Amino acid sequence: MTLLVTGGAGFIGSNFVHHWLGQSDETLVNLDALTYAGNLGNLARWTRDARHVFVKGDIGDRALVDHLLHAHRPRAVIHFAAESHVDRSIHGPTDFIQTNVVGTFQLLEAARAHWMGLADSDRQGFRFLHVSTDEVYGSLSPTEAPFTETRAFEPNSPYSASKAASDHLVRAWHHTYGMPVLTTHCSNNYGPYHFPEKLIPLVIHNALAGKPLPIYGDGQQIRDWLYVQDHCSAIARVLQAGVTGQTYNIGGWNEKPNLEVVHTICHLLDQMRPRNDGRAYAEQITYVADRPGHDRRYAIDARKIERELAWRPAESFETGIRKTIAWYLDHQDWVSDVTSGAYRQWVDQHYG
Ligand code: NAD
Ligand code: TYD
Repeated sequence: MTLLVTGGAGFIGSNFVHHWLGQSDETLVNLDALTYAGNLGNLARWTRDARHVFVKGDIGDRALVDHLLHAHRPRAVIHFAAESHVDRSIHGPTDFIQTNVVGTFQLLEAARAHWMGLADSDRQGFRFLHVSTDEVYGSLSPTEAPFTETRAFEPNSPYSASKAASDHLVRAWHHTYGMPVLTTHCSNNYGPYHFPEKLIPLVIHNALAGKPLPIYGDGQQIRDWLYVQDHCSAIARVLQAGVTGQTYNIGGWNEKPNLEVVHTICHLLDQMRPRNDGRAYAEQITYVADRPGHDRRYAIDARKIERELAWRPAESFETGIRKTIAWYLDHQDWVSDVTSGAYRQWVDQHYG
């Protein structure tokens, strides 16, 4: 039995590889283009493990994907690969359309051809699991109920619009062709191997480096945080027991304003790695210009996955953020590889 995972060298994808190979003997073929966000250092533990087959390549490369599907005959595709950073999508949306929309379309078409060619018994068990985000639902007012699966899409950034477009393609491939798809919408993740361009790893890194901690606007925007290993366990559960054609929201009921998140990190760092001058990390907080079109609030109603698939997160924000900070303190070599760009030089040398 084999899984084809896309984007498995990124933040969530590499955590999923750790999660999966830690509990299963199934081979995992990992297709990743190694953009700036992909880092083979995240997967160093598995380089000599035959269950992990890494392939550098683009999800939009139809010939390559056809070849991988033919050669490995996976029972499922788990699709993480995407351009994922909202600020980058504002500065340059092209890659987001190319990977998230066109790339997903190419992957779906390759998977459909593979699925149609399977024997009846294998065709029934095949799954295409599309990993999406809560950001497709748009922004909530302070008093609105959290997003349910039936909420209309109202994406506001080029990133969320490109993810919403891919979600629509996946839905249509089920409705029109009967493809056995599953879609998940998860809230903001945090944890190990998170690239330090996103809020939580950026704040931990900048705090330790004595740099400003940038708060966009008033810092009262709310995100719903989930520890990344909980997201991985939810995906494994949806793959195992999700009903095809259904969508599942994944979240841990952890709504926090950004400023509170940053203060919590500063407070924990004050205990776990005090500043040399004895002052508080919170003194490094700096208010900067707001993100254009900044969504005010996201919140996930996770009752469907709890009720129908009996999934619950293992971590609260309090336990998860402490683990995350401890991981960054213990993996400063990973952080300096990423922030210095050393991990990119290795990719250039290795793959030319
Ligand atoms: P990431 O940016 O850390 O990783 C993306 C990975 O995809 C990288 O390894 C990159 O090299 C690879 N990739 C990019 N373009 C590719 C292409 N054309 N072909 C093959 N590989 C390509 O992203 P992430 O935070 O790990 O997010 C993974 C998925 O989860 C995305 O689909 C994202 O939309 C979704 N998601 C993320 C969050 C979050 O908080 N990070 C929350 C909900 C959903
Ligand atoms: P981010 O981690 O980029 O995730 P997303 O935009 O997908 O939710 O940002 C999380 C929140 O933190 C978001 O409201 C933007 C805010 N933010 C800052 O205030 N400062 C920063 O330097 C960054 C990167 C984000």
